[in-house]
Amino acid sequence: MLKIGGRQMTVPIIQGGMGIGVSLGGLAGAVAACGGMGVISSANTGYAEPDFWQNHAEANRRTLRAEILRARQIAAGNGLVGVNIMVATRQYPEAVKTAVAAGADAIICGAGLPSDLPGLVSAASGEAEILLAPIVSGGKAARTICRLWDRRYNVTPDFVVIEGAEAGGHLGFKRDELLNGTALPLMEILVEVKTELAEYEQKYGREIPVFVAGGVYSGRDVAGYMQAGAAGAQIATRFIATEECDAADGYKQAMLAAKAEDVRIVQSPVGMPGRALNSPLFKRLDAEGRIKPESCVNCIVPCRPAETPYCISRALIAAVQGDWENGLFFCGSNVGRLNKIVSVAELMAEIMDELVAENEV
Ligand SMILES: Cc1cc2nc3c(=O)[nH]c(=O)nc-3n(C[C@H](O)[C@H](O)[C@H](O)COP(=O)(O)O)c2cc1C
Repeated sequence: MLKIGGRQMTVPIIQGGMGIGVSLGGLAGAVAACGGMGVISSANTGYAEPDFWQNHAEANRRTLRAEILRARQIAAGNGLVGVNIMVATRQYPEAVKTAVAAGADAIICGAGLPSDLPGLVSAASGEAEILLAPIVSGGKAARTICRLWDRRYNVTPDFVVIEGAEAGGHLGFKRDELLNGTALPLMEILVEVKTELAEYEQKYGREIPVFVAGGVYSGRDVAGYMQAGAAGAQIATRFIATEECDAADGYKQAMLAAKAEDVRIVQSPVGMPGRALNSPLFKRLDAEGRIKPESCVNCIVPCRPAETPYCISRALIAAVQGDWENGLFFCGSNVGRLNKIVSVAELMAEIMDELVAENEV
């Protein structure tokens, strides 16, 4: 049993938020039903709504709320339901408000440091009863966020997710570090972050559980990180190959067909490098330099539509709908190990059996 704030998980696994539309209420609810934390990505949740391109803020608000309620219903009182919100999205403050109002258990923020998150939450709810966590990629970011939250709001993170260099989606490392393999290993970042958190654990008189992410595959991996002081792991790519994952079957099949050498580091309009499959979209971008956006919903703060090499929302929406030719298929570095689609319950049981066996050795 893992207690975080006033809440608890029976399984120390967070399913990483995956946008656009890869982790919605279906996947998150199934993970929570097994006692873990299922996480909905708030990124353009309304992508399939008929009014999305005309009225995208409202479509996202409506669907994010509906997906949180759907996850809760599937979870049937088990586990936790979180929302992953990218700081770099223009709807970040709005999504925080929606997550609080719909009764999510946790907000996990990545793609930027959520320096104002506690303020946004208390403005939304008066007294916040929701777990707050930043995603960091090193000790320095952990220190910065703890210091800011402590000084400005007199709070400390309820838990922290460390995302290492093997993760899928946007990565908090320099492109060169990713290409030449010089990014610090996850185990070393864990030690760094734990050291930075110690001061705040002491000040606030409680532990700040840390979850490691990026290339964590088996229960044995999870056990290794837990022995080094992690409370558990955040896993994403493995959850794409599940029956309950909210992406179209074409996304899942692309993951199953991928080999390690099909993965590449891509540049994203979010202004960070990312890890994805080397799909036809990138071959076209290599050849043509740019695919001019057809329309824009102004979703990413740092994106410049007039210059962006491609529209990331269109590319991610194509992917979640299974469109191999036009999609951007984010994945972690271990995608080549996926070989079948299983249910979330089977995957969670496999990881937990390995974890328990490893702890008994
Ligand atoms: C398809 C996909 C989409 C993702 N989207 C997001 C996202 O919207 N926000 C975020 O913070 N992280 C995102 N991530 C990162 C995951 O939440 C997770 O931390 C990471 O992929 C863990 O590594 P693993 O995939 O090797 O398990 C995404 C990852 C994948 C594979």
